[in-house]
Amino acid sequence: MSEALLEIRGLEVVFDGFRALGGVDLTVGAGELRFLIGPNGAGKTTLIDVITGLTRPASGTVRFAGTELSGQKEHKIVRLGIGRTFQTSVVFEELTVVENLDLAAGFRRPLPTLLRQRRGVSDTVATALDTIGLGHLADRPAGVLSHGQRQWLEIGMLIAQQPRLLLLDEPVAGMSRDERDRTGELLTSIAKDHTVIVVEHDMEFLRRYASQVTVLHEGKVLVEGDVAAVQADPRVQEVYLGRTREEAA
Ligand SMILES: Nc1ncnc2c1ncn2[C@@H]1O[C@H](COP(=O)(O)OP(=O)(O)O)[C@@H](O)[C@H]1O
Ligand SMILES: [Mg+2]
Repeated sequence: MSEALLEIRGLEVVFDGFRALGGVDLTVGAGELRFLIGPNGAGKTTLIDVITGLTRPASGTVRFAGTELSGQKEHKIVRLGIGRTFQTSVVFEELTVVENLDLAAGFRRPLPTLLRQRRGVSDTVATALDTIGLGHLADRPAGVLSHGQRQWLEIGMLIAQQPRLLLLDEPVAGMSRDERDRTGELLTSIAKDHTVIVVEHDMEFLRRYASQVTVLHEGKVLVEGDVAAVQADPRVQEVYLGRTREEAA
């Protein structure tokens, strides 16, 4: 087992008296590609929101590479090396693909470099462009991209910020079969040098690309393990297929 990069203990989130997270423990090792699944309303996005400083927990701890994250500001958490996607798009439509990547990469650049007239593309941007496979569209405005290409650009914008941990919230939602496959391959390739947590509940996608899976249900970790064990678990089947214990018996 690799060294833990993210260690969450006893995490609770309460919205107006409603417990969205009810004591979550989660450990993700450096270099892992972890899938986080669970029915709608399970608390998956809330968990990402807490890790990234968007939502304050009622209690619990979130340690990232030895630093406590809860109570820290969003921008501070980004600078510590955590990047996330949102369920809604954040690309600038009028800017080209490469300009979007350049802008995302810019936040780490020292001021003199930022102010200097830019010639060509930095290594970081070139690498991100290559990773997401949009080199042929580098100079097209992001507004012309297909839904899938836009998702890949957003992932590229995260990579350009050189995070250690990437949190991707339903990256294949609304994608075609072909786009899903390309995204699965992209995730596999990104996971070679990043730690990645992916929220996704498409079982077919999971079977193809997941190894370690954490199942969240009603704000708690229900089951954790490799994809085959998780799929075979009767508690997971119950949650996903809506089977009651009586029917299953
Ligand atoms: N800002 C909020 N205020 C009140 N309730 C919220 C808020 N955000 C999420 N919730 C509730 O918390 C639960 C978990 O939501 P969410 O984390 O978005 O689930 P998931 O991403 O797993 O579908 C849901 O019941 C949702 O309605
Ligand atoms: Mg969600």
